[in-house]
Amino acid sequence: MLPKKLLVTGGAGFIGSNFVRFWLEQHEDCSIAVLDKLTYAGSVENLEGAEKDPRCTFVQGDVCDRDVVDALMAEADAVVHFAAETHVDRSILAAGDFIQTDVFGTFVLLESAREHRVDGFVHVSTDEVYGELLEGWAKETAPLMPRNPYSASKAGGDRMAYAFFATYGVPTIITRGANTYGPYQYPEKLVPFFVTRAVRDEPLPLYGDGRQVREWLHVSDHCGAIEVLLERGEPGQVYNVAASNERRNIEMARIILDELGKSESLLRFVKDRPGHDRRYALDCSKLHSLGWRPKADFDAEIRATIRWYAKHRDWCECALARSKAYFEEQYADRA
Ligand code: TYD
Repeated sequence: MLPKKLLVTGGAGFIGSNFVRFWLEQHEDCSIAVLDKLTYAGSVENLEGAEKDPRCTFVQGDVCDRDVVDALMAEADAVVHFAAETHVDRSILAAGDFIQTDVFGTFVLLESAREHRVDGFVHVSTDEVYGELLEGWAKETAPLMPRNPYSASKAGGDRMAYAFFATYGVPTIITRGANTYGPYQYPEKLVPFFVTRAVRDEPLPLYGDGRQVREWLHVSDHCGAIEVLLERGEPGQVYNVAASNERRNIEMARIILDELGKSESLLRFVKDRPGHDRRYALDCSKLHSLGWRPKADFDAEIRATIRWYAKHRDWCECALARSKAYFEEQYADRA
């Protein structure tokens, strides 16, 4: 049975805000409380269309703040926990916020969920917890070998969610999703960052040889998978979420340039990311056994996403302006 009253953490971020819109569209008889700290990566603008919906309430606050969490948890049937620091490059420059939000914040939510006996708790983890996979596809039973502070923090939260199931019976379900694309992603990530650079005719900095491989999942498919898991996922289980769209970074850059009608002379090979994972790849047969299949057509949707960022230049510029110092530091010797 689907929950009626959801608490969505990180609901003003990328996947969270898309999920809130998706849920309101799919489920007439529902209510959602969004808890979001509004860090540099979140914005109420991302909730466009949902922010005025009477079924949706927004609270600015931190998942580490037990009082705020408790007040919202008391009203919720189930939790979808997106709130996290998510950018690998930032975690390499400064890991503290990642450990605080992704590990401690998850712990605070789990403690509160335990006390309030919620019916469901989806913890949104990531394929990056497996570390790089040079060949084959990781099943949910594969060892966790995170190689950067972001993925290590996510692995901590992921296993804490499982520990709360095993120890206290909190009905946690863990998703490990692939690289997700779609509208409203903070433009530090590959797709929106390269689009914002290309529209200004600025070079696209490919780390290393640009031949690292990621699997690309449309945000609507990511949301659909979480819906299936809220309905019929098994507590205590982990589910990989991907759509078999493996692409090298350089291929992604070429699609972006092609869609925007820009020259490949904008491609630049720059100093690599330390500990850069070569490839991620997921075996999703477990989720398929619940009847979930991705619906988005990669070639059409990646191009629609590129056009969305090109059309929303003001949104991108406004988002980028919140992080001037980061971009200067990260790309100073990669220009
Ligand atoms: P990113 O969007 O940061 O996601 P993740 O590291 O979580 O997979 O990066 C996707 C890939 O693109 C990754 O292999 C790193 C690479 N990349 C670049 O080559 N240049 C860039 O400026 C960025 C942001 C990413």
